[in-house]
Amino acid sequence: MLNLNDLAGSGGRTDVLVRAVNAALFVSHGIRTDSHVTLHLMGGPGPPRRVLFDGSALRGVRPDERSIAGHIKALLNSPVPPVGRFVEVSTGISHSGGDLQQTLVEWQNEGVGRFVLDAAGGHLSTIPSTGPMGFILSDDCPFTEEESDMIGGLPRVSLGKGWLQGHACITIVHYLLDQSLDRCSPQE
Ligand SMILES: C[S@@+](CC[C@H](N)C(=O)[O-])C[C@H]1O[C@@H](n2cnc3c(N)ncnc32)[C@H](O)[C@@H]1O
Repeated sequence: MLNLNDLAGSGGRTDVLVRAVNAALFVSHGIRTDSHVTLHLMGGPGPPRRVLFDGSALRGVRPDERSIAGHIKALLNSPVPPVGRFVEVSTGISHSGGDLQQTLVEWQNEGVGRFVLDAAGGHLSTIPSTGPMGFILSDDCPFTEEESDMIGGLPRVSLGKGWLQGHACITIVHYLLDQSLDRCSPQE
């Protein structure tokens, strides 16, 4: 049971996940409509569940940890949908069965460039940006051996030699991508 008053204890570091959602989608007084974030809920009873927050559609979610966690808690009462079929539970929030491997396959089919965030990787500027980009990061724990195998062949992006918290990484990636978009925009 996820306790909204104890996100760091009762629900397996749900605080880490909701901070990632916050960093991925929220700006001051707005939402990044060009971004979405997929959480992989691998713990607890039952099959793996993925939760997709789609910034282009999201409504009714405030940028605070309790609000985001409340939406996650609500969907935990519904059975996990079949692998690969996302079922909307509220506007801009949907869930599906499947694990990281399934997400990697879907991203590949959708033409999303796949990159692993890793302190030992290369700088983002060395990677050609050719359309939508997806970044994979772990939560408070390292990737499992199985997940490491899934992402083994993918290019790695470093945001510095020191290990950072996941939500900080997401903010930095947005900053770097925003900068490169600014450079590509036609001058007034
Ligand atoms: C809190 S860190 C995980 C720390 C965990 N103890 C470990 O050893 O993997 C969460 C994720 O943020 C990303 N990350 C953290 N620091 C990074 C950095 N300097 N460059 C790129 N990605 C980083 C990685 O994807 C990492 O798996």
